[in-house]
Amino acid sequence: MAYRSDFPLLAANPGLHYLDSAASAQKPKAVLDAVRNYYETSYANPHRGAYALSVDATERYHLARSRIAKFLGVADSDTLIFARGTTEALNLLASSYSRSNIRSGDEIVVTAMEHHSNFVTWQQAALTTGAHFRICEMTADGHVDLDMLAGMLGPRTRVVAFGHVSNALGTVNPVAEIAKLVRERCDALVVCDGAQGAPHIRVGFDALGVDAYAFSGHKMGGPMGIGGLVARRELLEAMPPYHFGGDMIEFVHDETSTWAPLPYKFEAGTPNSAGAVGLAAAVEYLDAIGMDRVQTHEQQLVAIAQQRLEELGGVTIYGPPPAQRSGVLSFNVTDVHAHDLATILDSTGVCIRSGHHCAQPLMRRLGVSSTARASFYIYNDESDVDALVAGVRQAASLFAGSIA
Ligand code: ALA
Repeated sequence: MAYRSDFPLLAANPGLHYLDSAASAQKPKAVLDAVRNYYETSYANPHRGAYALSVDATERYHLARSRIAKFLGVADSDTLIFARGTTEALNLLASSYSRSNIRSGDEIVVTAMEHHSNFVTWQQAALTTGAHFRICEMTADGHVDLDMLAGMLGPRTRVVAFGHVSNALGTVNPVAEIAKLVRERCDALVVCDGAQGAPHIRVGFDALGVDAYAFSGHKMGGPMGIGGLVARRELLEAMPPYHFGGDMIEFVHDETSTWAPLPYKFEAGTPNSAGAVGLAAAVEYLDAIGMDRVQTHEQQLVAIAQQRLEELGGVTIYGPPPAQRSGVLSFNVTDVHAHDLATILDSTGVCIRSGHHCAQPLMRRLGVSSTARASFYIYNDESDVDALVAGVRQAASLFAGSIA
């Protein structure tokens, strides 16, 4: 794929090998142009003004919501609630849902591979409500243990929360299969953290079978600070607001207030309309490429990278085989700490992430405190894999001579 030239930062830095898209993706020119155009031609505070410019800004914000909903496979675009990103979306859901639906003695189930956003949020909801917080373990090859999950579901299970794609292992979870399993066994809220899913895999929310799906725009080429939650209308209508303030009310009486219809009930305050406009341009860009091509391209690069790193020897790779993962490769090199590896790779122009990847429960189960993580996107190609492998070889020989 020859998309690198669409990304101004990458085009301006030909020696840069950006392999940290799971943390945040680079931005195509189309997104930067859309944000600039919005500020230059249509910008005002949406929903507030009777004047034409504010009406125009409102219209652009609404169009962005519809466009992003279409990308995610959501027919009812008012059930897409904008938030700062996945973290805020999951906090909104956990806080609001648990206040009205979870009681002492109920059970909340998450998996051991969750990012802290989909782990700590539910752990704290359990602590607040007196519910039991239960963790479904992984299989040896980095999948959710579906047999164990089936055995954990019962009449007190109120929430089952899991990621579409593990940010630390790249495991692509069988979302529809998990949702079906839960439906067959209990009446729980099925929550999917799509932070690492939506940028790489066609979501098709309406056919997925989950109740709620959270996503981040900045990981799919959109601006930082925009993302959201899509959820079933009945669920959102029954949930109390998360934030209070302007634009989310219907009437404010002296003693009490009533709430605006969806999506505004959950969007208090001035919205990040420029972020929404930019994210709409990002999904337009991804749709033009085709999400199937995006996914195939990443899997091909991961397969090549995994094979070439394994050929070096002294490299431990975590997670499932390439065909069952997204564009994420987590590994360690014998005798080289992941942070040292990342620093050496940086000196050769290769950007990776090192550390616990906000997944400490997962790291504990792997028996490590950190891994190195290379993550691929549409602008990467085999030259990035070459640079990664060369850097790993250099680091290994510098530290221990463990690789010839
Ligand atoms: N959650 C992001 C990552 O996995 C930041 O790197």
